[in-house]
Amino acid sequence: MAEGIIVTGCTSGMGREAALALAESGKTVILVARNQVKLELLQDEIAHLGGNAVAVLCDFSDLERVKKAAEQILALDVVLVGMANNAGMQGVYAKKSAQGYELAAATNVFGPFTLAEMILPHLAAGARVEFTVSAVEDPERQFAVHAGFRGMRYTTIANMAQGIYPEGGSANPGFDSYATTKGALLACALQFAGEYPHLKVNALEPGLTLGTGLGVEAQKPVLKFIAKYILPLIGPLFSNRPNMSSPKKAGVLIARLVTTIDTTGVYYNEKGAPMEASKQMQDESFRAGLVADLRGFLKRE
Ligand SMILES: NC(=O)c1ccc[n+]([C@@H]2O[C@H](COP(=O)([O-])OP(=O)(O)OC[C@H]3O[C@@H](n4cnc5c(N)ncnc54)[C@H](OP(=O)(O)O)[C@@H]3O)[C@@H](O)[C@H]2O)c1
Repeated sequence: MAEGIIVTGCTSGMGREAALALAESGKTVILVARNQVKLELLQDEIAHLGGNAVAVLCDFSDLERVKKAAEQILALDVVLVGMANNAGMQGVYAKKSAQGYELAAATNVFGPFTLAEMILPHLAAGARVEFTVSAVEDPERQFAVHAGFRGMRYTTIANMAQGIYPEGGSANPGFDSYATTKGALLACALQFAGEYPHLKVNALEPGLTLGTGLGVEAQKPVLKFIAKYILPLIGPLFSNRPNMSSPKKAGVLIARLVTTIDTTGVYYNEKGAPMEASKQMQDESFRAGLVADLRGFLKRE
């Protein structure tokens, strides 16, 4: 039976580059994304390159669709040997998901966690799992502080679900929500590594990657134009700098994490070196409490 690797959020940015890099591996690339047209175009592109891909439509902000997508993946005739959990968003305006949650909480945490909970038990022994997170969860990371982030501001999953964060956070709309939801996903990744010792589960801080679609949707027209057409051209020029990357480099790193890296429970930086998470995140009891809270919340809802 063919071996398959799942890539979520593969129709743009580093996820797309990861899917293209994985197409060369000879394995079936299981493309999971929310936009049918973009999915089909990518599937065709991979076929053109001589690779093999199947498309699974999934909006991560809608838990019912996530569950359906998981069932569809599990019904495929492939041995699942890898999973790159890369889909994510950064919003500016408060928006609600299909189930009434703050959109970033649903998209960055509830959806990916639900998919992983359904898929991980069915991965082949030794399968590699990657979670694309963000170091903006660390309130002591100066690079992120200078950009306006104030770190992860977690209180409870119920508060996160409604976009409620303690006062004293970032002055920029959406920053506390992004830092907290990506931090929560990092906590999940590190906990999964402990819960599934037969898998290799790692997390990636991909670096500030200019020229992807992250946060572009919510920008004003001029900034949108710059983000869409200028940054993809000049972004790669900065990609060798500390804490920075390009969509291509980040995508190749994601592909490596789901094909060749043999560690588990490691948090990697944009250059592929192990890095430290925030002090809070290094506390196993904090991570375990968050994941238990998340499981309880999703079960009750
Ligand atoms: N860029 C950075 O500087 C940076 C830094 C640290 C971490 N990250 C993380 O890296 C990951 C990839 O982001 P990127 O920078 O490559 O941005 P991107 O180009 O916007 O890619 C994000 C991907 O997630 C998908 N997505 C968003 N909302 C979704 C939803 N509700 N359902 C299904 N898919 C959804 C997008 O789909 P569409 O193609 O349909 O839009 C896209 O394919 C994200 O998890 C992000 O948080 C990025």
